[in-house]
Amino acid sequence: MSLDAVLARIDADLDPALERLKQLLAIPSVSTDPAHAGDCDQAAALLAEDLRAIGFEASVRPTPGRPMVVGHVGSEGPSLLFYGHYDVQPADPLELWHSPPFEPQIEDTPKGKVIRARGAADDKGQLMTFLEACRAWKAVHGSLPGRITIFLEGEEESGSPSLIPFLKENADELRADVALICDTDMFGQTPAIVTQLRGLLGEEIIITGPSRDLHSGLYGGLAMNPARVLTKVLASLHDESGRITVPGFYDGVPPLDPELARQWEGLGFDASGFLGDVGLSAPAGEQGKTPLEMIWSEPTCEINGMITGYTGEGFKTVLPAQASAKLSFRLVGQQDPHKIRDAFRAMVRAQIPEDCEVEFHDHGASPASRMNITAPQFETARQALSREWDCEAAFIGVGGSIPVAGYFQTILGMDSLLIGFGSTDDAIHSPNEKYNVSAFHKGMRSWARILDALAH
Ligand code: BES
Ligand code: ZN
Repeated sequence: MSLDAVLARIDADLDPALERLKQLLAIPSVSTDPAHAGDCDQAAALLAEDLRAIGFEASVRPTPGRPMVVGHVGSEGPSLLFYGHYDVQPADPLELWHSPPFEPQIEDTPKGKVIRARGAADDKGQLMTFLEACRAWKAVHGSLPGRITIFLEGEEESGSPSLIPFLKENADELRADVALICDTDMFGQTPAIVTQLRGLLGEEIIITGPSRDLHSGLYGGLAMNPARVLTKVLASLHDESGRITVPGFYDGVPPLDPELARQWEGLGFDASGFLGDVGLSAPAGEQGKTPLEMIWSEPTCEINGMITGYTGEGFKTVLPAQASAKLSFRLVGQQDPHKIRDAFRAMVRAQIPEDCEVEFHDHGASPASRMNITAPQFETARQALSREWDCEAAFIGVGGSIPVAGYFQTILGMDSLLIGFGSTDDAIHSPNEKYNVSAFHKGMRSWARILDALAH
């Protein structure tokens, strides 16, 4: 009965909730760009103020990078820690946006209403589903159930450099019975709880050769070209079957558990639809693996960016003095990011010819994580989700990385329930990011049901 009142309150409050989300989305809190540090401070301050309005004792906590926001409420009963991130990816390429990325708009689309802005789905819209569920609960009951801590990070999209020290220094304050994380997708139209996440290793290679850019007629054929060296190195990272050639790379990659394979088969993943939506048709991972294995349980090595030579209008006959690339490796099982970094660098160094030099920049390293789905909260949350969505919630893998889930296990000894309401067509990290208004609405309702089931 009282849950019904909270759900009714959420329904009635949808428009003001969207207005509050718009206010947060209007702040360009891009963590990777120091020029936006002030915006990150502003987003943190807005969230702390909002948490206070819902009855939390909340503060903005400085770190050497972007600040954290922590809020607490309640003194007895089960304890929950909710995690989200208020930072966003850079919006570029700006020219591909149909409306300005930090001027959120509600739009009618053939698939329903959406809210469009950078961060709409990743992760501001998602984190607000939980805050709004708390707001409605408080409005109906005058207080929140159990003990709830809300922990919001501002560096997730830039490798979380301050996260581990912060968790270690504040372990007693943050530890709870279970963590809740809203930063993932549904499985198509089906609500989902995540069972495993891939890890991530980020590397940048910079290869230099001649002391300046050269005329490609005067010097071409005689001088070493760093762009040729770079492309050769990059091409050597995969073999013909799509396997990654870095020595020792597959150490710690477990075979797919047959039970898990059966469960994934039962999900009926529509690989042609998934690829078709982005203009593709052929799975491009290692031969012999299924599409779900390629995105959930197999490691990857991908080129995320390359800079070299003349890329402006027209044409220029030049041998570039420098060539660089940014790469990411998605990791699974027990793969050790630090060992892989060393092996990768040694493999690259071995291919650098006379007259060229290579430099590496480190862009973060976090291992894969796997949830302990036998913890009782998983079944409780699954039932609560199934009630809201009128279909059984699925257990899924995720190809993306949310390093905090692993750190909650290793540093705080806590399992995470990763439940998100994103869709694969939300275009996170891309131009024209959006969040479905129905996801926002049903996401809030889902959290109210989960709070009712877990914290009461
Ligand atoms: N929310 C995403 C991860 C995600 C995306 C999970 C889609 C499920 C579905 C997260 O914010 C993210 O993008 N993480 C980065 C890692 C970070 C260290 C840069 C990623 O996966 O690239
Ligand atoms: Zn995210």
